[in-house]
Amino acid sequence: MFKRRKDSIHDGDGTRPGMAHVLSTGLEFLEHNNPNGNPCVKGYNIINGELKQASSGATFRSTNPAWLDDCLGEFPLSNEADVHEALDAARAAFPGWAATPAPTRGQIIGNMGRLLMEHKDAIVAIETREIGKTLKESAGSVQEAIDTCLFFQSEGRRLYGQTVNSELPDKELFTYRRPLGVCGIINACNFPAAVPFWKMIPAIMCGNTCVWKSPQDAPLLSFALARIMHESGLPNGVINLVHGKGSGAGQHLVDAVDKGMVNKISFTGSTAVGKMIGEVCGRNLVSASLELGGKNPLVIMPSANMDNAVEGAYWAGFGTAGQRCTSLGNLIIHQDIYDEFMSKLMAKVESTTIGDSLRNEGVLYGPMLSEKYAVDFLKDLGMCETSGATKLYGKGRITNDNKPAGFRGDAAEGVYMWPHVYADVTEDMECFHEEIFGPVITVVKANDFDHALHLANASPYGLSSAIYTNDRLEAYRFKTGIKAGMTGINNSTTGAEAHLPFGGVKGSGNGTRESGIWVIEAYSYWHAVNDELSGKLQLAQMDVDEIEIEEAEVDWTALSNG
Ligand code: UN1
Repeated sequence: MFKRRKDSIHDGDGTRPGMAHVLSTGLEFLEHNNPNGNPCVKGYNIINGELKQASSGATFRSTNPAWLDDCLGEFPLSNEADVHEALDAARAAFPGWAATPAPTRGQIIGNMGRLLMEHKDAIVAIETREIGKTLKESAGSVQEAIDTCLFFQSEGRRLYGQTVNSELPDKELFTYRRPLGVCGIINACNFPAAVPFWKMIPAIMCGNTCVWKSPQDAPLLSFALARIMHESGLPNGVINLVHGKGSGAGQHLVDAVDKGMVNKISFTGSTAVGKMIGEVCGRNLVSASLELGGKNPLVIMPSANMDNAVEGAYWAGFGTAGQRCTSLGNLIIHQDIYDEFMSKLMAKVESTTIGDSLRNEGVLYGPMLSEKYAVDFLKDLGMCETSGATKLYGKGRITNDNKPAGFRGDAAEGVYMWPHVYADVTEDMECFHEEIFGPVITVVKANDFDHALHLANASPYGLSSAIYTNDRLEAYRFKTGIKAGMTGINNSTTGAEAHLPFGGVKGSGNGTRESGIWVIEAYSYWHAVNDELSGKLQLAQMDVDEIEIEEAEVDWTALSNG
């Protein structure tokens, strides 16, 4: 049905010669002085299967946050015209893709999963080099993308609708899932493989086409993934990649909703930006999937297995340098075990190993995702101070003159932060309510279970949540009383699996979900079809047989005198 143009260098859109199809080119390298000898790539937008520069010629660079002198590549700083070109390509590809049999779409998605498996080690290393996540965690993120492909490949053989009985004779009713159209995809850089796949795989499974605005801090990984997607047999224009700023290309993608060029926006990022996107989509009656911030509470009760709970809290707070939307926010500890728990937790915090995972074995976390995340984090630490919380540990940015014992390497090379713990946090403090993206936990003391549950519900967010307890009734009451999209029982707040619904309530989202079968709802609409076979106009409700009740003279109460 589709012809992929694999011709070598050709004229692209006629105005910018020299652009080539993504499958006809290898990687292009730029001259560089990278201290680790790693190459610096010339990156492109991918529009209608073709490699494109920004129409303005503007570029930006991607640097390794663990080693800032290491430049991964140069990428187009896309403007409105570039975004519109990508949207036009997605619009043109839509009818053909929507008409492609769903099992064929599933086969292409399966191919993507198999290609990712084949290239997994290389993709994992790019993710670590580009955003500083440990190799183990990057492998988790890439595996989540693979799992998503493998989960959805056979959905192509389902994507069920229903046959429904009519209230009229000689008439049939059916439901079909239909694609929405062109989807704008905007994700954060902290899960640069898993999250765009959570969005685009179900989107294309349902027959939609996409314009993907890559995160500004992970363009190389996005470029690699989009290229691999094209190797799977994906027709031109089904997934179009544009690089650039959130406030640039990302905003142009959202603004295009007002111009009628977009049928769906799927966004993962801050609550403030999510609300803006929700407003734009709302006034245009365009569907929006919004996965936003979290201040995820973790409650520790006296019956908990203490070591297990310490391990879970420590991982939830400091794994990924605290840069997951599911990372621990408020650690809520029952007063009876507060001292014992905190002394065990602090011993772990003080022993944290930090460094570049590409050069050091066994580090718990690496650098901040980029300098921008570091700046925001330091500002938020200031908020903890002005809130009046008691700092138990942490000294801001790691430098060679200011580093914890567990830091490995040369701190001047990257953007590293101490782990931080703030105690005596109370509900009236700003730092109790604000999400802080980075290695910090805010500790709150609870009087009893009801107080702990109250505190867990008191922030404006409702993404993830967790409780450590061995009291089954407490676990039940937490599960039923918490307002959150996700809850862990005797587990950390992070680590959602790829086949469960992911998302939040309150300030954490608009109720849509990522991941698992439920996400199909977010990328399709139900089409109800009735087929009138009787050869005449039969009116629903009005021409329906009315069956009357006919009661016999039987006294049923006489059958028992009890
Ligand atoms: C995110 O931080 O945006 O549940 C996604 C988790 C991961 C996904 C996090 N599986 O922590």
